[in-house]
Amino acid sequence: MNKQILLEKRPEGLPEKDTWKMVSTPISEPKDGEVLIRHHYISLDPAMRGWMMDRKSYVPPVEIGEVMRAGAIGNVIKSNNHPQFKEGDCIVSWGGVQEYETTNGENCYKVDATIAPMPKYLGALGMPGMTAYFGILKVGKIKEGDIVLISGAAGAVGSLVGQIAKIKGCTVIGIAGGKQKCDYMRNELGFDEAIDYKSEDINEALHDKCPKGVDVYFDNVGGEILNAALAKLRLNARVVICGAISQYNNKKEIEGPSNYLSLLVNRATMQGMVVLDYAEDYEMAAMEMGMWMMQGKLKSREDIYEGIENFYDTFLRLFSGDKKGKLILKVI
Ligand SMILES: NC(=O)c1ccc[n+]([C@@H]2O[C@H](COP(=O)([O-])OP(=O)(O)OC[C@H]3O[C@@H](n4cnc5c(N)ncnc54)[C@H](OP(=O)(O)O)[C@@H]3O)[C@@H](O)[C@H]2O)c1
Repeated sequence: MNKQILLEKRPEGLPEKDTWKMVSTPISEPKDGEVLIRHHYISLDPAMRGWMMDRKSYVPPVEIGEVMRAGAIGNVIKSNNHPQFKEGDCIVSWGGVQEYETTNGENCYKVDATIAPMPKYLGALGMPGMTAYFGILKVGKIKEGDIVLISGAAGAVGSLVGQIAKIKGCTVIGIAGGKQKCDYMRNELGFDEAIDYKSEDINEALHDKCPKGVDVYFDNVGGEILNAALAKLRLNARVVICGAISQYNNKKEIEGPSNYLSLLVNRATMQGMVVLDYAEDYEMAAMEMGMWMMQGKLKSREDIYEGIENFYDTFLRLFSGDKKGKLILKVI
């Protein structure tokens, strides 16, 4: 049997337990040209909150009754004449929150789990890693000497953004919630400064820790922190809009940042990015990220929880911040 998490209703605000339901269905046999994959790890991402909303976005919403969309990694346990994948292959897919998946292989790719453990392919070598790489290099267009400010900076994407910026010779200031995360950014990731937005006044902290302003602001959280960061832009600054997690569970309309005229004054740009647009270049980026990891220049950590029945409680950690690094659910 295949345990699956289905979307039961569209949430308003923070999802509740009955937003999803768990069912057990017979595992579907692969048809000609298909494979059956046993998932080992499921990626839990803030974007999943957006995919539950019935509104225009960069991908269609998850329909009510559908398996909750999520990235996954696992092994092929049966191939029915699949042209590329054979039994034993390790596959990254959009297989969703379920233990098994039967697929024709669309949007799936093979990875080598002997080079890096599976969870890394959902983290630094997967979607968050690609987001950090293309977001800071292609959209943030960092160059040596830039001052780079990052929100959500101890998380899966932000921690990598900051380290890539350090590799490229930038000064890095990270914003995250709590002393532990600030210590982690300063002592383990090598960031120059850290701001604890939960205990510090964000405007005062930016005044103290970014006295010269910022050339690049990489935004993962939106809201008040975005607004405060806009006030610190330097001439020709770039603002990368990667995400806005502080707004995802809003019940009211999102309000725009009142400091937006800083873009005009500073001839700055603010650009949204979606990682899927860079899919053609993932392989090249993953090789470079892998190289930096082998050289000890790039660290990543995964926070892994067990059991598909713990999906709901684990998912909420994205919004409470009660996790360290990339959030992953081990299912089998
Ligand atoms: N555009 C794209 O293609 C793309 C791709 C991947 C991810 N993203 C976006 O990138 C952002 C980070 O994703 P991730 O996977 O790296 O997640 P993550 O940082 O690993 O986890 C989310 C973190 O957000 C912080 N957070 C939660 N609520 C917050 C609030 N109200 N205010 C400030 N911070 C809050 C928490 O950290 P603290 O303890 O520090 O509060 C939490 O640990 C998200 O907005 C996501 O949607 C975008």
